[in-house]
Amino acid sequence: MGKPSSSSASSCGSIIILSVYYICICSFSNFTSVEGFDSLLRLPHSGPNTNLSLSKTKTVFYVNDYGAKGDGIHDDTKAFKDVWKLACSQPGKAKIVTQAAKTYLVRPITFGGPCKAKLKFRMSGTIIAPNDPSAWDSLNAQRWLYFHKVDHLTVDGSGKIDGMGQEWWAQSCKINTTNACRRAPTAMTFHKCKDLNVKKITMVNSQQTHLAFTQCVQVEVSNVIVQAPGSSPNTDGIHISSSTLVDIRESTIGTGDDCISIVGNSSVIQITNITCGPGHGISIGSLGKSNSSASVNDISVDGAILSNTENGLRIKTCQGGFGFATNIAFQNVWMEKVSNPIVIDQYYCDSPVECLNQTWAIKVQNISFVGIKGTSATDEAIRFACSDRFPCEMLYLEDIQLISYNGGLTNCFCWEAQGSFSGLVFPHPCFSHGESYLGRKVLPGSVLQSI
Ligand SMILES: *[C@@H]1O[C@H](CO)[C@@H](O)[C@H](O)[C@H]1NC(C)=O
Ligand SMILES: *[C@@H]1O[C@H](CO)[C@@H](O)[C@H](O)[C@H]1NC(C)=O
Ligand SMILES: *[C@@H]1O[C@H](CO)[C@@H](O)[C@H](O)[C@H]1NC(C)=O
Ligand SMILES: *[C@@H]1O[C@H](CO)[C@@H](O)[C@H](O)[C@H]1NC(C)=O
Ligand SMILES: *[C@@H]1O[C@H](CO)[C@@H](O)[C@H](O)[C@H]1NC(C)=O
Ligand SMILES: *[C@@H]1O[C@H](CO)[C@@H](O)[C@H](O)[C@H]1NC(C)=O
Ligand SMILES: *[C@@H]1O[C@H](CO)[C@@H](O)[C@H](O)[C@H]1NC(C)=O
Repeated sequence: MGKPSSSSASSCGSIIILSVYYICICSFSNFTSVEGFDSLLRLPHSGPNTNLSLSKTKTVFYVNDYGAKGDGIHDDTKAFKDVWKLACSQPGKAKIVTQAAKTYLVRPITFGGPCKAKLKFRMSGTIIAPNDPSAWDSLNAQRWLYFHKVDHLTVDGSGKIDGMGQEWWAQSCKINTTNACRRAPTAMTFHKCKDLNVKKITMVNSQQTHLAFTQCVQVEVSNVIVQAPGSSPNTDGIHISSSTLVDIRESTIGTGDDCISIVGNSSVIQITNITCGPGHGISIGSLGKSNSSASVNDISVDGAILSNTENGLRIKTCQGGFGFATNIAFQNVWMEKVSNPIVIDQYYCDSPVECLNQTWAIKVQNISFVGIKGTSATDEAIRFACSDRFPCEMLYLEDIQLISYNGGLTNCFCWEAQGSFSGLVFPHPCFSHGESYLGRKVLPGSVLQSI
């Protein structure tokens, strides 16, 4: 098990401490690489003309000055590429600006790093994708705006990123079953990033996932809006994979798939004050597909409103996987007509053929649900379907009030689920107590109706 922090409050503290520590190191190393190298090592380019304050000056690049038309018709990809290249190679801070009231058509593009200094991408205008999937022919169909190995980047602005996903959705095998299943692009991907800040942008109608972080360290996302129709297939809001120290807050996400999904090898993820719906809720996993190894730990969701989502708070693992999902805390969540408010499913099967029972499984341990209230659209408000070989351990429920949207009684389903509870918990928890307990136990909730 990874080294857990002692409480959710202190895991918050450790993020702050780590960030401060990190920022210190970064600003220190920036300092040394600029001043130290120039003054001490006297690199060839540092002649008598070297002017430190000049090299540190912020430079602003307007994409319109580099050939972008911003009329929504003309292909502006080259201007974005050119501007990125210039900004990324600036020795001092640089800012890229797209102008408000302009619409830039940008084809699949890679923003590659590392860049020389801190960069800011100010998106004031709208960026749209080609609406015809054939624009991806011969290109990597999983990417549209792809940032690779970029550190110290801020993306902000009041602008919009529109994936124009409608044609991709129509061609999805989930919409038209005669079509072959294929993956569609993620609108904005950050791969191998470090020290990233994404704020205030609006993302709509992505072809598939809207915003993805893979192998990233230290990411902050705030005041972001994500919007796609509830019927759009696979349009995850934010997807986190193999990343650590991720902080998502004050954001509103309505999509056709997961609001936020967190998969393998991610840790220290903090989600605060978000609103989800429509969509599939907040999901950890799936983990361990095809006998793979995957672990997640130290995840906190504190402050969320979920309305009309298919799931609320869900952990899903596939049979046969290796690894663990531990130290996960969900608290202060308000649910409105959520179909499956609380779910741990260790029998998740995302495959056209039936998934066989396997002896091995991801270990699920120390998962708490505190202050989860509202309405469930189904009677089964809580479902803990855990592995036979590795039962869920240390599940904890406190201050749970999930009543039926339709007026019936809600209930709790448990299979191999061990845990405890305190305070008012409705529906009444159905934890098994002994290790040898091998039965399915369904308890109807206590007669508590009007909350
Ligand atoms: C359980 O997880 C919480 C974080 O959600 C952590 O603070 C706590 O220390 C963990 N407990 C154990 C016994 O690992
Ligand atoms: C460096 O540039 C600044 C601003 O352009 C100027 O005021 C200053 O005199 C320059 N210093 C040297 C040593 O050239
Ligand atoms: C489904 O796709 C097939 C082949 O791509 C197409 O011929 C058909 O018209 C589509 N059906 C609908 C309902 O769009
Ligand atoms: C997680 O890490 C393990 C071990 O390093 C690796 O085998 C596995 O492929 C990773 N899984 C994911 C989903 O990245
Ligand atoms: C979450 O919202 C509450 C109430 O509006 C606020 O007090 C708190 O500072 C917010 N937390 C974060 C991390 O933004
Ligand atoms: C997973 O492992 C089991 C036995 O260990 C094996 O029967 C099964 O075929 C494996 N599944 C995959 C998808 O590799
Ligand atoms: C797999 O295991 C579960 C739980 O023990 C059981 O309900 C189910 O019938 C099993 N499925 C198969 C295909 O053996």
